[in-house]
Amino acid sequence: MMFSTVLVVLLYVVVGSEAMHAKSSTSPTLSYWHLNLPTTPIPDALRELISPLSYEKTSELLDAIREGKKVSMGEPDPTSKFGRKGGPDSLVIKASNRNYGSSADDADIIADPFLSTFYFLEKDLHTGTKLTLYSTLLKRSSPDSRVFFLPRRLAEAIPFSSDKLSVALEKLDISQGSDTALAMNQTLKRCEGPANSWERKYCATSLESMIDYATSTLGTSSLNVLETNVPCKLESQKYTITAIPFQSKSGSKPVVCHSETYAYAVYYCHESQHITTARVSLKGEDGSSGEGVAVCHMDTSGWNPQHLAFKVLNVKPGGAPVCHFVPNGEVLWLPAH
Ligand SMILES: *[C@@H]1O[C@H](CO)[C@@H](O)[C@H](O)[C@H]1NC(C)=O
Repeated sequence: MMFSTVLVVLLYVVVGSEAMHAKSSTSPTLSYWHLNLPTTPIPDALRELISPLSYEKTSELLDAIREGKKVSMGEPDPTSKFGRKGGPDSLVIKASNRNYGSSADDADIIADPFLSTFYFLEKDLHTGTKLTLYSTLLKRSSPDSRVFFLPRRLAEAIPFSSDKLSVALEKLDISQGSDTALAMNQTLKRCEGPANSWERKYCATSLESMIDYATSTLGTSSLNVLETNVPCKLESQKYTITAIPFQSKSGSKPVVCHSETYAYAVYYCHESQHITTARVSLKGEDGSSGEGVAVCHMDTSGWNPQHLAFKVLNVKPGGAPVCHFVPNGEVLWLPAH
């Protein structure tokens, strides 16, 4: 009787930010962060995805899963969910960001001004430069479309592999063939697919496992976690670089984590080589200000010569370094200096 009422946990419901903060102060996930990363502030992009589930509630759900019961996470409106990183364009950012083997179609570039402004040259990464940035890049997920991390104990009780997707769908009470199920299937394929030859990759199904991956890959618990955090009320506007408070040395190999579409928060993390990172203070024409995280790719010799970046910047593979801002919602882990 008890379980039948507690099983439906609407992880997608709007959780008032006060309620969220009150609970997250005792959240096991947040405690794990402070224990493992005592000197690292948690970025907003990750803090706002910490599960509102208490320790007790998590234990109840875990018991239910072990008994073979369904735990509904609530199936969100797929249109709002898939758009949660700022609209369908975000898929384009991810693809162009991550797949350096891809080519860009001239027609696509002309049709989408966002694409033609995504990349910039390293020589322009200095105080005083004005760059047009789109809300697609800067917008945070709205509270009602957020998909939370599961506490690790719970995430580990749910299979995360293509061949067990049906089991996971059954446990999470998500219908086969639904948009959520299709997106989960695609995410699993990406997570199981081969990594680029130069990188190690890992799909984190909980914030705890992301912390473990980052600390073990970077070999230290003294880390900085960087995110782009710039308020945006306009579709696009020019931002001026007002300061560059931090610039990494070349040769640093940050861990980058991108969010994936799944029934709960899943991040695709990988090591990046040949990039330099900068924290950049930005001021918009409308007076708003915030901080962007710029990464510059120093070695593009292996990229597809038809890649978007080369077309819009008029440079060649292996030529001038190519930079872009890390989209809001993604995080970059670096050893603290
Ligand atoms: C996942 O996608 C593949 C096709 O790419 C399909 O054969 C498989 O049935 C899908 N799995 C589920 C559980 O929907």
